[in-house]
Amino acid sequence: MIETVPVALGTRSYDVKLAAGLLSEAGAHIAPLLKRPKVAIVSDAHVASLHLDALTKSLDAQGISHSNLSLPQGESTKSWAHLQDVVHWLLSEQIERADVVIAFGGGVIGDLVGFAASILRRGVRFVQIPTSLLAQVDSSVGGKTGINAPHGKNLIGAFHQPSLVLADISVLGTLTERDFLAGYGEVAKYGLLGDAAFFDWLEANGPALAAGDEALRLAAVKHSVAMKAGIVSRDETEQGERALLNLGHTFCHALEAATGYSDRLLHGEGVAIGCALAFETSARLG
Ligand SMILES: NC(=O)c1ccc[n+]([C@@H]2O[C@H](COP(=O)([O-])OP(=O)(O)OC[C@H]3O[C@@H](n4cnc5c(N)ncnc54)[C@H](O)[C@@H]3O)[C@@H](O)[C@H]2O)c1
Ligand SMILES: [Zn+2]
Repeated sequence: MIETVPVALGTRSYDVKLAAGLLSEAGAHIAPLLKRPKVAIVSDAHVASLHLDALTKSLDAQGISHSNLSLPQGESTKSWAHLQDVVHWLLSEQIERADVVIAFGGGVIGDLVGFAASILRRGVRFVQIPTSLLAQVDSSVGGKTGINAPHGKNLIGAFHQPSLVLADISVLGTLTERDFLAGYGEVAKYGLLGDAAFFDWLEANGPALAAGDEALRLAAVKHSVAMKAGIVSRDETEQGERALLNLGHTFCHALEAATGYSDRLLHGEGVAIGCALAFETSARLG
């Protein structure tokens, strides 16, 4: 069964659809958005090697033609150099204003490709197909897109909402344990944001969820997305409440800068450590 979480943003509203095995139906969900049967897919090489076939088969089944650009995996891909690669590639693929770009990967691909879509021809639509836990529960929803600068993380970017988010819970099965647990840092964050019942539920179900239980994974992702969708619909551009989602992120961003945005520290690991430091600080402040 497909679960749907609406993100209510007036004319920029969209749905987040979630299910195990959703990738095999992606084409059918994307087809209604298209003015002509053609899409451009940007992914990272690792995700593409594992899951691109399933996505392209579902597009083929709908008669949607597709081309793919695969970028190196890792945070350093969120750079001017790769932004330029993506934009130039989309232009060479003759992606027009009315076309749709697909961001297929983790938060790195979602942020980079969303930003590319926001500036290509002054803005084209894009679909997020998040494949990491972090991207499914957080980065694919809400329209924050961008790249990193030498001065800090995510300092160059735009608010650009996707037209659709398709989260296939089954693809989480190929994440390394480290990547899965890093994403869980953002899930636990939602519990700490004022949802004690969800935090308790995670305390009880976290181990089974981490071990691979897809029903529990779906429940956790859906709850997290619903919390984010509510906050984003009340405060799209972070004038107030949306800043709650940055819990632990001040410390996290400092730690990521100190470790050179390398895989020495993953973003979700930084969030987990950052939440602990934020609580330590607030306790010390009384
Ligand atoms: N826009 C936002 O609101 C927002 C929110 C939170 C985080 N972020 C950004 O998200 C990024 C982190 O996202 P991430 O943790 O997804 O990083 P990522 O995109 O680098 O993915 C992590 C790793 O997992 C691999 N991977 C992804 N899906 C996989 C799958 N199904 N199977 C096997 N491997 C898979 C990737 O190849 C990569 O090596 C950071 O840049 C962070 O700033 C953005
Ligand atoms: Zn984060």
